[in-house]
Amino acid sequence: MTPIQESIINKKTSNKPIWLMRQAGRYLPEFRKIRKLNPNFINLCLNEDLSSKITLQPLQRFELDAAIIFSDILMIPYGLNQKVKFKKNFGPELGIINLKKISNISEMDFLNRLYPIYKSIKKVKKNILTNNKDIIGFVGAPWTLLVYMINKHSPKKKLVKDFFKDKYLINKILIILEKFLKIHITQQIKNGATVIQIFDSWAGLLNERDLSNYVYTPTLNLVNYVKSLNVPVICFPRGIKNYKNFCEIVKPDAINIDYVVDPISISNEIQIPVQGGLNPKALLSDKDNLKKEALKYLNIFKDHPYIFNLGHGVMPETDPMKVDYLVKLVKDY
Ligand code: CP3
Repeated sequence: MTPIQESIINKKTSNKPIWLMRQAGRYLPEFRKIRKLNPNFINLCLNEDLSSKITLQPLQRFELDAAIIFSDILMIPYGLNQKVKFKKNFGPELGIINLKKISNISEMDFLNRLYPIYKSIKKVKKNILTNNKDIIGFVGAPWTLLVYMINKHSPKKKLVKDFFKDKYLINKILIILEKFLKIHITQQIKNGATVIQIFDSWAGLLNERDLSNYVYTPTLNLVNYVKSLNVPVICFPRGIKNYKNFCEIVKPDAINIDYVVDPISISNEIQIPVQGGLNPKALLSDKDNLKKEALKYLNIFKDHPYIFNLGHGVMPETDPMKVDYLVKLVKDY
């Protein structure tokens, strides 16, 4: 069994496996070199040779316990034929939604648009660098994808004014998302993903009373689906205030926490395996502070099944030497 599966399935506490969200990305010069030659981000995700190479780059440098496939949660709206662009210094920008068009997408059309992602996973699986390691497949949670599809760009602090006006449209999109997220999960697993992570980056934007409709119910549905395929599922409802409620209702196999929530209360309140938490900014500080911050999480979760990770992705300004230092520190703990 892989170290991560030991933590999640066997609830082992004596080892602390590590991987990092956005471990393949702009902080690595070898990534920036490829990115510079490939200005279209979507096309880069759809180039199986390059995306598998980028996925493996951090494993070449660091002793990480998992590869996370180089792709994006917004490949789903792309697969559904909504326009998706990544603009420099702005982030994603999506096109208008044509409900008729996205309602008529067949499984075949969708897979035809996304098949290089699955081929890339297959390549990563075959590479010896991933022997006895997990391959993390992922999806955006329905709520977070709905946010991008309707809001058209990252919401930062709040949603566009009339976000909830067209309930008919919202419900239609959620039904379509459920169908195609299941297809996307199945294909990732068929081609070699051994763990699925569900990113709900905008869970924190909702009021308590809307969580049930938009976060708990649709996520529970996906979690049960992944469980039925016998693959562990990790949820990351970033910014959700009550992780305990989330875990009790959605029951993922493991929970990734953000850097705002207090890890001590998490370790007291939550029984399931925990992942993450460290503020990515700790990687921008000096080694002493980084060590102090990382040890805080390791010590709090000493007797808990715990997978080391961050409370959000590695920042582009990060020095790869600091990542090296962190990985070694966790390995030597
Ligand atoms: O290394 C990995 O973690 C795997 C690849 C991965 C990417 N995006 C690559 C990427 C994963 C798992 C994601 C998930 C993702 N994408 C999320 C959920 C996690 C989170 O960050 O909250 C979200 C919300 C997105 C949507 C997205 N993609 C945004 C908002 C942006 C722009 C902001 C930014 O960081 O540039 C992206 C672009 C993106 N996705 C990049 C990468 C490496 C940067 C693209 C570039 O090189 O310009």
